[in-house]
Amino acid sequence: MRPDSSQGRPPVAVRATDIRKRYGGVVALDGVDLTVEEGEVFGIIGPNGAGKSTLFDILCGITKPTSGQIEVLGQDVGQMSPHLVARNGVGRTFQRTAVFGEATVYDNLLYGRHIGFRHSVMGRMFGSATYRAERDAFKAKAEQVLSLSGLSNERDRLASVLAYGVQRRLAVAVALMSDPKILFLDEPAAGMNGRETADFVALIETIAPGRTVVIVEHDMTVIKALCQRALVVVDGRPVTVDAPDQVFKHPEVISAYLGAEDD
Ligand SMILES: Nc1ncnc2c1ncn2[C@@H]1O[C@H](COP(=O)(O)OP(=O)(O)OP(=O)(O)O)[C@@H](O)[C@H]1O
Ligand SMILES: [Mg+2]
Repeated sequence: MRPDSSQGRPPVAVRATDIRKRYGGVVALDGVDLTVEEGEVFGIIGPNGAGKSTLFDILCGITKPTSGQIEVLGQDVGQMSPHLVARNGVGRTFQRTAVFGEATVYDNLLYGRHIGFRHSVMGRMFGSATYRAERDAFKAKAEQVLSLSGLSNERDRLASVLAYGVQRRLAVAVALMSDPKILFLDEPAAGMNGRETADFVALIETIAPGRTVVIVEHDMTVIKALCQRALVVVDGRPVTVDAPDQVFKHPEVISAYLGAEDD
């Protein structure tokens, strides 16, 4: 971790300033500020429709904000294409599972690695040294990720036949193939049973050291187990940022969640 000599604090991995987003007449985000330190596991929580995924997509460069600044790993994401953001060390999963159902687990990992490939088509055709080196690096990485994510026994199975919770784990594994410095996860534990969730928490605990993780999640056991801090978003506004145990003591958070249960 790079020391930040000016303040004696770890450097900032994500800094978002006054993020606003409108979809026509809908105000999805209404002035969100956010700072995530390097090495932190940071949660984003809030009721349905609060704006979590919108914020998440903006931080990853998938969606452009109506206004506001976003810096990720020292780069201004505002004008960057999603592809360039990914090349810059950012990995992500989507709220709706995005794995290739008709491809095997192993081939899904291949797609995940593609982002980091730099060899040319000609190099591939003629088996250039760069291509061979990347292919060997891919194989080694795939073995490591399969084992880490508990998917070694599933490597030749089609993703579509896997249980939903296992598909979610595969989505994380695909993101890990590019060895991201920062990993964004949008509701990674959705649809998982208790056992799968516990395995998932263990996976993130294993991969978190040396990385920054930003995680949107409805399952508070996951947030409490993993996150040092969590931001609560309600109706597109940031309500509080604190340790998970503390945020649920905040009156506005209590009423937002109780209100959501009444719906
Ligand atoms: N592409 C879009 N076009 C129009 N409105 C949108 C779009 N995406 C999101 N919204 C609206 O913005 C608001 C925030 O949506 P968002 O998906 O960010 O919420 P969320 O907190 O992720 O919800 P959930 O918990 O259900 O995933 C909602 O009112 C939603 O209907
Ligand atoms: Mg969402």
